[in-house]
Amino acid sequence: MAYKDVYEGWKRDPEAFWMEAAQAIDWIEPPSKALFDDKAPIYEWFADAKVNACWNAVDRHVEAGRGSEIAIQHESPITHATKGITYAELQKRVASLAGALRMRGVEKGDRVIIYMPMIPEALEAMLACARLGAVHSVVFGGFAAHELAVRIDDCTPKAIIAASCGLEPNRVVHYKPLLDEAIELAEHKPEFCVIFQREQEVAKLIEGRDFNWHGFQYGVKPAECVPVEGNHPAYILYTSGTTGQPKGVVRHTAGHIVALQWTMKNIYNIEAGDRFWAASDVGWVVGHSYICYGPLLAGAMTIVFEGKPVGTPHPGVFWRVIQNNRVKSFFTAPTALRAIKREDPNGEWIKRYAKHELQAIFLAGERADPDTIQWAQKHFGVPVIDHWWQTETGWAIAANPLGIEELPIKLGSPSVPMPGYDVQVLDDAGHPVPAGELGAIAIKLPLPPGTLPTLWNAEERFRKSYLDTFPGYYETGDAGMIDEDGYLYIMARTDDVINVAGHRLSTGAMEEVLASHPDVAECAVIGASDALKGQTPLGFLILSAGVNRDHAEIVKECVTLVRDQIGPVAAFKLAVVVDRLPKTRSGKILRGTMVSIADSKPYKMPATIDDPAVLDEIKVALQTIGYAKD
Ligand code: COA
Ligand code: AMP
Repeated sequence: MAYKDVYEGWKRDPEAFWMEAAQAIDWIEPPSKALFDDKAPIYEWFADAKVNACWNAVDRHVEAGRGSEIAIQHESPITHATKGITYAELQKRVASLAGALRMRGVEKGDRVIIYMPMIPEALEAMLACARLGAVHSVVFGGFAAHELAVRIDDCTPKAIIAASCGLEPNRVVHYKPLLDEAIELAEHKPEFCVIFQREQEVAKLIEGRDFNWHGFQYGVKPAECVPVEGNHPAYILYTSGTTGQPKGVVRHTAGHIVALQWTMKNIYNIEAGDRFWAASDVGWVVGHSYICYGPLLAGAMTIVFEGKPVGTPHPGVFWRVIQNNRVKSFFTAPTALRAIKREDPNGEWIKRYAKHELQAIFLAGERADPDTIQWAQKHFGVPVIDHWWQTETGWAIAANPLGIEELPIKLGSPSVPMPGYDVQVLDDAGHPVPAGELGAIAIKLPLPPGTLPTLWNAEERFRKSYLDTFPGYYETGDAGMIDEDGYLYIMARTDDVINVAGHRLSTGAMEEVLASHPDVAECAVIGASDALKGQTPLGFLILSAGVNRDHAEIVKECVTLVRDQIGPVAAFKLAVVVDRLPKTRSGKILRGTMVSIADSKPYKMPATIDDPAVLDEIKVALQTIGYAKD
C-alpha cells in the first residue's frame, strides 16, 4: 500500500485503523473499541482494555523464544564501556528492581521520579515502573536542583531513582548533591531514594532514606507484570511552556504502546531483530519513545549512548557506533549533525566506518536546515528524513514513512501528516488558509493514540494551552504552511518557547530567574539564531534605580543564577544591560522585533510601538555582544 492509501484508509475509518494497529499488542483484556469520546474534547484511547507495557516491551519477546537477543546495547565513549543486555537478562533485572520497589511500597498509580544519565539502568527503572503500573517521570540530567524540586512538588513521587553521577565530556555531574538539594527545596518528600552507584563516583547515602540499587534488590521476590487499564498513565514528562512552571505531559498506557509499535515498522522500517539507535537522552520525549519503549516493543535492539557527537573523542564516534552495531535506522537532532559537519566538513571521518545496513537517518527536535540535510545525503547516500513532533504528541505528526513508502524528500519539509493527524494551517480567526500561506498549525481533534490526553493535575491549563484558541483543534504552538502536495513546513514557534541544540526551553522561565536577581527591575529573554544550536538565549536586563555596580559583574551573576536555577542545559551565557525595552503602547515587550534586530534581519516597524527610538538602543546593546551586525 502507498502512503496515500494508508492515510486515506485511516481518514475513512479511524476506529478500524487503530483497532487493527492494536492487534500488534498483547492484551490482558482487549479493548472493546478504540476511541472513547464521552468526555470530549478530552479523548482517550483503548480505555477499557487491560494491558502491561513492560510485558509488551520485554517479557513477550522472551516468551517468543528471543530471550538471547540483545535488547539494550550500552555504548559509552566517555567510560569506554560497551555492553549488551539480552531480553532474558533485561526481564530478570527489571522484575527484580520492580520487586524491590514493591517491597518498599511502590504500587500501581504511585509516581516515581527517575534522575539518571544514559546508562541501561535508566531504562530498567522506567520498565520496572511500567511493570508495576507505577507512573514514572524522568527528569533530564542537565536540569538543576530547583527544576527537579518543581517536578517533585508537582507529581509527588513516592520514590526517586537516581544515579550517583552523570558524565559530561568536561566534568562529572554530581547527581546526588543535586538530588539532596532538590528534596530539601521541595515541599513534598519522597519516602525513599534508590541510588545506582557508578564507579566514577560513589555517593554518600542518607541512612534510612537512600538505598543502594544492588543491596535494595538483594533477596527480593521478582515482580510479575501488573495489569493496568488502557487509560492508566504510563508516565509524566515535563516540558517547557511559557512560564517557569513546566507542563506535565501525561501519556496513557494503551495508546502509547499501540502508536509506538505502529511507528516502528511504518515510519522507521524496524522489526524484531533489527538494530535501532536514537542518539538522544532518556530525559526527553525522543528518549522515552525511541530509546526505551518503541524499539523494545518492536523486539529490536536499542542503543543507549553516553557521549556527544563531537569531542568524545572525535567526530566519527556516531559512525563507529553505527558500524559496530550494524545500525539499521538512526535518529538524531540536526544540531548534532551540524556539530559534526563543522569539524568534518568533507566527511573524512564518515569514510572510515562501514555503514552496513544503515537504511536511513531520521532528524527531529528542531527544524532541519537544507544545508545539513544535503551534507548528510551526500556523505551517506541514504534518505535523510526530517520528521516533526513534540513532547505532547509522543510520536511524529509529520514524517516520510519509510516502512510504507519512501516519498520524495523536499528540503525544509518534514514531509506529510501521519495517519491519526489531520493537520491544518489556520489564520487568527481559526479559518484554514490556502496552500502555501503561513498560519498557525493546528490538528483537528481527536489527536491519535499515544498523544497527551491532558496535563498532570492541570486539566484547565491543558484546555487553555492547547484547546481554547481554535475550538475543535489542538494548537501545536508552531507556525508554518502546507504546500500544494500536502507537504508541511514548520517555520517558527508562536509562543515563548525556544529551541537550543534540540532542547526545548522556555524564555519565560529564564525571565523569572533573571527577575529574581536583586538588582534587576525588569528583563526579557529572546532566542537569537545560532549557526550550531539553532537558537541561543540572549538576556536583556533593566537595573533597579540607584544600582551603580559594574554591569559585567551583574551579567555574570545572572548567568550563574540561570545555570544554578534551571541548569546548564539552558545554555544561558549572554546578557546585556539596557535602559529600556521596546514595548507596544499596551506594554507588551516586542520580542519578535528584538529577535530580528539580533539576527540582522529586516523587520517592519510595529505599528503599536510606544517609542521607536528604543530599537536603536537595543541594536547598540546587542552589538556589544556580537549580535545585530549590519
Ligand atoms: N547532564 C548534565 N549536563 C548536561 C547534560 C546532561 N545530560 N546535557 C548537556 N549538559 C550540559 C553540557 O555539559 C553543557 O554544559 P557547559 O555549559 O558546562 O558546557 C550545557 O549543558 C549545554 O549543553 P548543550 O547545549 O548540549 O551544548 P554542548 O556544547 O555541550 O553540545 C551539541 C552541543 C550540539 C554537541 C549537543 O547539544 C548535542 O549533541 N545536541 C543534540 C541534542 C539532542 O540530541 N537532543 C534531543 C532532541 S531529539
Ligand atoms: P519537543 O517537545 O522538545 O520535542 O519540541 C517540540 C518542538 O520542537 C516543536 O513544537 C517544534 O517547534 C520543534 N520541532 C521538533 N521537530 C521539528 C522539525 N522536524 N522541524 C521543525 N521544528 C521541529
